[in-house]
Amino acid sequence: MSCGVVPSPVTPGSSGTVMFMCGIIGYVGERDAQTVIISGLKRMEYRGYDSAGIALVTSQGIDVRKKSGKLVNLEKELQAHPMASSHQGIGHTRWATHGGPTDQNAHPHLGQTGRVALVHNGIIENFATLKAELAKQAATFTSDTDTEVVAVLLEREVASGQSLLDAMRATVGRLEGAFTLVAVDTDSPDTVVAARRSSPLVVGVGQGENFLASDVASFIEYTREAIELGQDQIVELTPSSVTVTSFDGTPAVTRPYHIDWDLSAAEKGGYDWFMRKEIFEQPKAVADTLLGRINADGQLTLDEMRIDTAQLRSVDKIIVVACGTAYHAGLIAKYAIEHWTRIPVEVEIASEFRYRDPIITRTTMVVTISQSGETADTLMAIRHAREQHAKVVSICNTNGATIPRESDAVIYTHAGPEIGVASTKGFTTQLIACYLLGLYLAQVKGTKFGDEIVAQVRELEALPAKMDEVLHDLEATLALARDMLSEHTVLFLGRHVGFPVALEGALKLKEISYLHAEGFAAGELKHGPIALIEEGLPVFVVVPPQGRDQLHDKMVSNIQEVRARGARTIVLAERGDDLAEEFADTFLPLPVVPTLFQPVLAVLPLQVFSCEIATLKGYDVDQPRNLAKSVTVE
Ligand code: F6R
Repeated sequence: MSCGVVPSPVTPGSSGTVMFMCGIIGYVGERDAQTVIISGLKRMEYRGYDSAGIALVTSQGIDVRKKSGKLVNLEKELQAHPMASSHQGIGHTRWATHGGPTDQNAHPHLGQTGRVALVHNGIIENFATLKAELAKQAATFTSDTDTEVVAVLLEREVASGQSLLDAMRATVGRLEGAFTLVAVDTDSPDTVVAARRSSPLVVGVGQGENFLASDVASFIEYTREAIELGQDQIVELTPSSVTVTSFDGTPAVTRPYHIDWDLSAAEKGGYDWFMRKEIFEQPKAVADTLLGRINADGQLTLDEMRIDTAQLRSVDKIIVVACGTAYHAGLIAKYAIEHWTRIPVEVEIASEFRYRDPIITRTTMVVTISQSGETADTLMAIRHAREQHAKVVSICNTNGATIPRESDAVIYTHAGPEIGVASTKGFTTQLIACYLLGLYLAQVKGTKFGDEIVAQVRELEALPAKMDEVLHDLEATLALARDMLSEHTVLFLGRHVGFPVALEGALKLKEISYLHAEGFAAGELKHGPIALIEEGLPVFVVVPPQGRDQLHDKMVSNIQEVRARGARTIVLAERGDDLAEEFADTFLPLPVVPTLFQPVLAVLPLQVFSCEIATLKGYDVDQPRNLAKSVTVE
């Protein structure tokens, strides 16, 4: 299989739509195809970067190069072994969800005789049946992918004498699932053919050249004229023509449009902000952070756990130190780690930590959370902790940064670079790392059985798909942002792990939209903050899942309390939570997950809301005033 589902880039003020990750590109024209394809893949690398490949039609036939890992690996290969010049080719950057990210599984895939090459986004649901059928006819395969099956089918069609276009039409007729396919054939000079069902594909219309890609960012350097392909359409490109038909062969009505972005926006993969791009990258970032954590013996493993098991078993107190968003991740970690390990956990703002003379012994574990790994307050806190002989475990997104270097153990989050100043994928991957640490300690201390730990990891692994679900259903959230442009104050309420989510929702809104926002523990309302409620005041409420009856019902009472005093309630709760919905002016449903993991989902609409409102207010979302990405002063 190929790629997972994420929402598409969105322009300011618009909502995302479903598309598949992975970037695909096709080119035919006068330029050097390799240059066009590699530069296009670079701009789509945000869509997937576990392997990349290129196929060119040359005078000697099709030449394919593909490499696992980042695009730079492919570039090195091309430098070491240059390809013959060509003006016709296809390329792919992959994010594997099934079928490991190996050289063999990377795209493009060739047919049996190497006559056709094909790249693919999506999933061919009936590939096992097709593969078995082809195997009976003596076909052999060199990869684990569904894509290779399509390449073999397509090649059989062209070998039977059909044009590449007709062969593609015949092939898609046999496929079930969602797919975008782009193919070249040695016997079809100056032609690239593609088919689209469900995942995106855009034609770039040039002068004496044409392009195809998942994302206009990949060809914007060359042309700003584009045609978006519709569902179930096939396109045939030559240097001078673009012919679009539906799967059944009837000519299609096309919708040409002019792209009004510049090249610098293209570096954001077509998103208006890095923050928005990073919000939508979260399902993948979470999946990557979870990758390979259970070994062959069913044991949870962590990256660089350089603390021996005896020492870990002796840990009798944990202090989590972090700043800002990372601190909020720490607050959530407390609930999970204490629940699974029964070790008491304190959570401390890093800049406060060493000034209160904290009680640290050799059996204290200090856990630092830092996306950048360079935050001065956090660094000073861990130096202090180590001087007191505590063991320090850091959760960090930046390989080799100062904080992980100075720690006894590291759990890396695999979020990829976070460029937007407001942390988004940093936060959700920090949560995952915290959960993993808690489960690891439970494993070492024996406070949970092995199968219970694996079951929790499996629940975590189900999160990316559920995050996708939330990120595909944003219309209500975006409408709220439009509607709340004139608000001056927004409140956020939560209980249990929903309380830090409320704090994080408020922080996001403060830092990029400069609105007055406060997060409260819902139970604290009656001790003061309820006085703030007045007619029409927007209050976001994060409601825990229904299984925790007392917790849930208390939260519903809190919603009633604020609503009775005129608040406009925006309720984030489990889908099907009718009780919570009854008191919601706006209901934002969340997929069902265990209580401890709900923050990973509940924070998403809050991030999107902040990003959207700041965008609509005309602020620089990626570089909010007075803030820097990495705070290296105390
Ligand atoms: C808020 C935000 C900051 C950081 C904080 C810690 O969106 O990004 O609050 O979370 O400055 O930064 P790191 O995680 O790099 O230590």
